[in-house]
Amino acid sequence: MTVDVDKPGSLTKSETPAAAGSLHSLVEGSGLQTESYAISVEHLDKHYGDYHALRDIDLTIPSGSLTALLGPSGSGKSTLLRTIAGLEVPDGGIVRIGEADVTYVPPQQRAIGFVFQHYAAFKHMTVRGNVGFGPSIRKQPKVDIAKRVDELLEIVGLGGYQDRYPSQLSGGQRQRMALARALAVQPKVLLLDEPFGALDAKVREDLRTWLRQLQTETGVTTVLVTHDQEEALDVADHIAVLNEGRIEQWGSPLEVYETPANDFVMSFLGPTATLRGKLVRPHDLVLSLKQIDDAVPVVVERIVHLGFEVRVELRDGDEVGLLSAQITRGEASRLGLTVGQAVFVRPGQPAVLAAP
Ligand SMILES: Nc1ncnc2c1ncn2[C@@H]1O[C@H](COP(=O)(O)OP(=O)(O)OP(=O)(O)O)[C@@H](O)[C@H]1O
Ligand SMILES: [Mg+2]
Repeated sequence: MTVDVDKPGSLTKSETPAAAGSLHSLVEGSGLQTESYAISVEHLDKHYGDYHALRDIDLTIPSGSLTALLGPSGSGKSTLLRTIAGLEVPDGGIVRIGEADVTYVPPQQRAIGFVFQHYAAFKHMTVRGNVGFGPSIRKQPKVDIAKRVDELLEIVGLGGYQDRYPSQLSGGQRQRMALARALAVQPKVLLLDEPFGALDAKVREDLRTWLRQLQTETGVTTVLVTHDQEEALDVADHIAVLNEGRIEQWGSPLEVYETPANDFVMSFLGPTATLRGKLVRPHDLVLSLKQIDDAVPVVVERIVHLGFEVRVELRDGDEVGLLSAQITRGEASRLGLTVGQAVFVRPGQPAVLAAP
């Protein structure tokens, strides 16, 4: 089999990890289904010099769930994850894994598997050596380690790659090797810092679907750091939205999307438009030919066909600004929209803001 070493993003069909059915049978036989632990942090605080990186963070991550830490660059996602892992010591607050207070327990005694944002494999070690590294420093018997490494490589779709070196793997394969390495220590919690960050969009999408299946099959409590809202909405049971070292909101994907706690969460979780000073989702805007309620008179400036949906760019006469509405193709043709037409726009569902 050939491997596109030069094209890190490429995954050929034969390199795609196991699909749902076969993944289930692989995980079932592997002893990977584990007792998993909840994670909680209370009043967590962290400074780097004068910089206040984590501000009074409270967060509970239920056992067996997948929680995404979502936020812009510099919001403190990696710092929070590294503090849970024990790679950073907080200035104040408590980290618990299961019932235990692990705030000052070294990382190797926390029963965690960790995949770093910028994963550094041991270049001089084969895939077998890399994946077996954790168990080997824990002095587990060699035959057990070899068996476990083979099982894990099957699960992450790298069966037969034992003797390759990291430089001989594609980017997607290297990240899957990193996941196998994290799982090799039979972790009670799995901490992933942008594990697919460097890969192209299509590969990311495939791998996150696969990660979700793997997480469901193993039941290991997982925290996934991402700045990609689509990735978080797609895979997570819960999302914690971070901004400037604070958690702005915690909830299910539906909750944070439909009832954002504030404008920051609303704009971070999807496209927004401003109608008379209020943030709305473009697909929540309703167009009509007659004035209904307090609909705002606008003029159609441009009509963009996006497949099933149509984006209608509107000029608001009074406020002199453009705003976009996203409607279905059927709705656009029912209204018979043309450029230059005068129409009315209103929010279909009043923007519901949750209590902060
Ligand atoms: N070791 C450090 N020394 C000083 N400042 C740091 C250190 N690590 C992080 N910071 C600062 O703390 C803030 C939070 O960093 P962190 O790495 O947690 O952000 P992030 O949300 O993971 O961002 P990204 O999406 O870019 O990875 C940033 O402003 C960063 O510059
Ligand atoms: Mg980071």
